Amino acid sequence: MNLKNFCDMPDKDIIKGFSRLGRREKLERASSFASDPGKAAEIAEKYRHHDTGVQKLHDGFSENTLTNFFMPYGVAPNFLVNGKVYMVPMVTEESSVVAAAARSAGFWSDRGGFIYETNDMLKNGHVHFLWTGSGELLQEVFPELREKLLAGIAPITANMEKRGGGIRAVSLEDMGHEIEGYYRIKGEFDTRDSMGANFINSCLEEFAAILEDFAGSDERMVSGGELKVIMSILSNYTDGCIVSVRAECDVEEMAPFSGGMPPGEFARKFVMAVRMAAVDVFRATTHNKGIFNGIDAVVIATGNDFRAVEAAGHAWAARSGRYSSLSGAHIEDGRFSLEMTLPLSVGTVGGMTGLHPMARLSLDMLGNPGAGELMGIIASAGLASNFAAVGALVTKGIQAGHMKMHLSNILGHFGATDDERAAAEKYFSGRKVGFAAVENFLTKLRGGGKPG
Ligand code: MEV
Repeated sequence: MNLKNFCDMPDKDIIKGFSRLGRREKLERASSFASDPGKAAEIAEKYRHHDTGVQKLHDGFSENTLTNFFMPYGVAPNFLVNGKVYMVPMVTEESSVVAAAARSAGFWSDRGGFIYETNDMLKNGHVHFLWTGSGELLQEVFPELREKLLAGIAPITANMEKRGGGIRAVSLEDMGHEIEGYYRIKGEFDTRDSMGANFINSCLEEFAAILEDFAGSDERMVSGGELKVIMSILSNYTDGCIVSVRAECDVEEMAPFSGGMPPGEFARKFVMAVRMAAVDVFRATTHNKGIFNGIDAVVIATGNDFRAVEAAGHAWAARSGRYSSLSGAHIEDGRFSLEMTLPLSVGTVGGMTGLHPMARLSLDMLGNPGAGELMGIIASAGLASNFAAVGALVTKGIQAGHMKMHLSNILGHFGATDDERAAAEKYFSGRKVGFAAVENFLTKLRGGGKPG
């Protein structure tokens, strides 16, 4: 499309006031964008829930909701984390993620399991502003301003304080080395078991109003320069909310995962693979993606914000200035260890965790953990996924496992019966799985012919 055509886009595609239409009308309009509007509307209707109460709840989670998009909800059993066994719920569309995590969890459950630690679990956010006056003046007035900021947010923090949380620190940060006149007021918050996004953002917006008021009324500030608030928002870079997790065993105990390789050789290959991910961004990105296969699946299943968790994890992976592996692996005195440290801000009360019945189910199945415990479980799922992925990569490769699931998906697409599935699994063991090959196989099988 050239620019002229782009500007000439037909008006009929622009829908004014779409959000005010009723659902059926929205569906009709949206379906008209599909190649077969009738079919599109039929699919959308089919995936609505028959229970109107359930559907109403889900419609309310978002805007312009037409229908639902189902994702598989699976569980990985045998997660031994800090001495406690968990049945870990995982929501993912990627075949083999749950099986890999479960296999890894089972392996480690016989070897002490996963051990995690958390720190203070503080969240942070900033008021970003520009100031044309001197930094010294800002520093001078800041103690007084801080008192006003704290007093101003007292009504917002009262409830959080009753639960043992609240604001822990307020500081002024000079960012002038990056942008002339750029400063931030940083707030550090303890939001207990809640993710606390609304709480933090409310406090920060109140900070901004108080700051502007102070700049416009304090004589030293009025005569000293001009202040403009640019924005107030929490940071998803939760470097004060860190979890460390590790798993270790004797190298000689690794045989069940070494794919027939001597355990020592397997462990050394594994450590080398992780070292490669530490120095090579191409490998690090994929390596960390494998970790987030496990992390995201549990974060989603528990109603937490996977975009926030991912963003924090990747920023953390690049904290040295070079994007690197989130996990590290070592062999020392005949012991193999795999460890990982990352920011992981999640909640177990409030928001989706309380509203979505499946999130509630997940948390219940996990024994209704607090936020710190959930951080440990999620980090363990990430490390388990990493162990399974790298373990497969340095032995038989990942295609073997993927192909089994791939075959199952293709057979599902063709509506294969149990007998056809059994025949296909036998036929394709050791053969390359592909859409056309499976279709061909089924066609012959169904026509009475001998496949292959
Ligand atoms: C696939 O979803 C994840 C892996 O690529 C991770 C990795 O390469 O470590 C297998």
